[in-house]
Formats: sequence, structure tokens, C-alpha cells
Amino acid sequence: DIGNAGDTLGVEVFVVGGFVRDLMLEQPIEDVDVVVEGDGIAFASYFASLHHCRLHQHRKFNTAVIIFEDGLKVDVASARLEYYATPAALPVVENSSIKMDLARRDFTINTLAISLNTETFGTLIDYFGGVRDVKDKIVRIIHNLSFIEDPTRIFRAIKFSNRFGFRIGKVTANLIKNALNVGAVKNLSGLRVLSELKQIFGEENPLPAVQTMADYGLDKVIHHDLKLTDTTCALFESVGKTLAWHDLLYADDVYPRWAVYFMAWLHGYPFAVSIQIADRLMFPVKEKERLIEQRIKSEHRIRLIEKSYPVSTQQIYWWLIHFKTECLLFMLALTKNESVRKAISHFYTHQRKIKPLIGGKDLKSVGIKPGPVYTTILNKIIDEKLDGKLNTMEEEIKFAK
Ligand code: CTP
Repeated sequence: DIGNAGDTLGVEVFVVGGFVRDLMLEQPIEDVDVVVEGDGIAFASYFASLHHCRLHQHRKFNTAVIIFEDGLKVDVASARLEYYATPAALPVVENSSIKMDLARRDFTINTLAISLNTETFGTLIDYFGGVRDVKDKIVRIIHNLSFIEDPTRIFRAIKFSNRFGFRIGKVTANLIKNALNVGAVKNLSGLRVLSELKQIFGEENPLPAVQTMADYGLDKVIHHDLKLTDTTCALFESVGKTLAWHDLLYADDVYPRWAVYFMAWLHGYPFAVSIQIADRLMFPVKEKERLIEQRIKSEHRIRLIEKSYPVSTQQIYWWLIHFKTECLLFMLALTKNESVRKAISHFYTHQRKIKPLIGGKDLKSVGIKPGPVYTTILNKIIDEKLDGKLNTMEEEIKFAK
């Protein structure tokens, strides 16, 4: 349909970048990027009105997003047509603007495109050896200044090489080292580094990427005290197992996956150093709290549980109930004590959702005067429920009285 719309408007339309790469690698496809040789916004509006899709326009960047009913998003960008007058009687030639658009990209594996217009539908466009590099499993930049122009690409090279199990090309690796030597990442804003790190930590298994970052000395650029130790690597593995367990059982339970790995990365660093790292990365206040304060609290709490074990179900409940999912998962990954791990996963599976069936209104209706006593009563009801008692509202009311 996209190609048909292109035919009607007389513009060439291509699906490009990650979509084509992931298609070749048989990876799940998330977003679709389309480039139109011409006015991308006009194309997107036409397509959206024809197919009753929602549309977001970004006039400043000449881009638009088409949003289908089922949530699928198609990003549409414009590649300008450029005409060059050639000498003498030769005709004016049209420089392929898709080629120029692709030439601006980061790695050869991201420069593939497929034509969508009817006549050329399915034609694979590969100006920069992307197919070869996908086959050879190699991350390679297109031009030598790539990392200087955009140092976030250093993190992207590591992300892709980790995600697909590709190696980083020799020249590309040397250019990363050069860029680091001239301070490219040092000068990068914290927000941009943070955004890349979140993507790396959000990957299925970020450990090899973290190791590669350490090999290039990227962690030291972020903070001179950062040092990847065997303990951190082991913790990453443990986080991996914990998240696999969690995601298998609770596929619908969303939590920021990156945050668990981030906590693992910063595990053991004192408060002051952690704050310096968070400030360098320009963490928003809420995330700073989550990653620093919550992480340190989680570290203390798990040690307390380990030290006090065995403890009652009630104690486990009250010690854990105020922690967010990512902290509980972090604690599970941290402990090496099998019984403690079982107790926490039991809490997670069976007890975390336990709440009284009655509330303040019910207590008032049976004549109990409102006040702090309400919290005491409701908490006591929870304690009972943790032992499998008080299964109905009537039983809870009776208990409250
Ligand atoms: N791109 C780039 N330099 C960057 C970021 C992006 O050249 N610093 C280019 C890449 O070539 C990429 C395209 O912009 O193909 C879209 O970027 P993004 O959506 O981040 O890339 P994906 O390849 O889709 O990555 P992911 O699979 O992680 O979403």
C-alpha cells in the first residue's frame, strides 16, 4: 500500500535501515522506517487519510509518523531530490537522493533499503556493502569521521555488535579509539550518553557490551572510578537469570529492564561516587533516586534479610513491600543464599498483591473512629492474610471489630 501511494504521488518510496537489516537477520521487527524521495510529510498525510491512520508531523525535520490502528508506527523521512546540471549538451541528472540519505547513516549494516514502488517492488539497494557485512557479521562505519561527527555511534557500534554477535571491524575499532583519544565522548552531553547506556542495558544480554565498553575504556570516560570487576560480571549473569525467570512467569509485568542492569553496574559504589556518575549522566531526579537511593537501600535490605534469616513471612512482607519490581529483581540477583532467594520469589509470586478487601469506609461503617488506628488494623489484617486467614470481607470486618 505504501508503494501504491508512492506511485500515485509520483515519488520513490523505500523501506530503510534497521527494518531491512532485521529482515535479513530474521530478527523481530519493531519499527518501520520509510524514506520518500520528495516530500515525506505530503506523502504521509496522503497515506494516512487514505487508510484512516493517525499522523504526527515534525515540520522542522520534514518527517512524519503514521500510526496504524493496531499501534504499528511507520516513520517517514524526506530525501530531497537534487538536480545537477552537467556540462555541455548532456541532460540534467538527478542525483539519487536515497543514496545520499543512506550515506549519512552510521554503519553499513544500517544502509540497506528496499524499494516499495510497484515496478521496482522488493529491489534491494545496497550502496555501501551492507549485505556483505551482514553476512560477514561485522559492524563497519561508512566514513572515517563518523564517530567524530556523532560520538554516540561508539555506543551504537557496541550495542549492535553485542545484539547480533558481530565483531567491530578493524578500521572501525581504531576509529573508535581515535575518537576516544581526542575526547569525543568526554564532550558528549550526559543525556546523550545516558540514552545510549539505557539502550545497551535494555538489551537481552548486556554483559558482552559492558565488557567491550570497558575494553575501550569508555567506563573510565564516564567516571574515573568505574571499573568492571569479576564481581560485576558475575552479578550481570545473575541478573540475566533472574530476569529470564521473571519474564517467563510474568510476561505482562512491565519494569525498566535497563534499570536492573544499571543497578548491577553501579553495585558497590559508594553513595558519593554513584551521585557523581548520575550527575555526569544527567539523570532526571526521579531516576537518580531510583538508581542510587533505591539501589543502596536494596543492597542494605538484602544483607539484612540474609543476616536475619530465617524470618517470618510477615517480616519478609513488610521488609519488601515498598520496593519496586526492578529493586526486587536486583535483590534476587544479588543474593547467593538459596533460601533467601526462595523467600523473596515466594513473596513476589504469592504475597506482593495481598491487600485487605475492606477499606477505611468499611471500618467507619462499623463504628471505628477514623485515625492512625486504621493503618494499624489494615496492616494487622494483612498479617493474618499472609497466614492464609481472613478470606472474606465479613471475616476481615469481624477481625477489625
Ligand atoms: N543513525 C545514525 N546515527 C545515529 C543514530 C541513528 O546514523 N547516531 C541512523 C542509523 O543508520 C539507523 C537510523 O538512523 O539505521 C535509525 O536509527 P535507530 O532507530 O536508532 O536505529 P535502528 O537501527 O532502528 O536501531 P534499533 O534497532 O536499536 O532501534
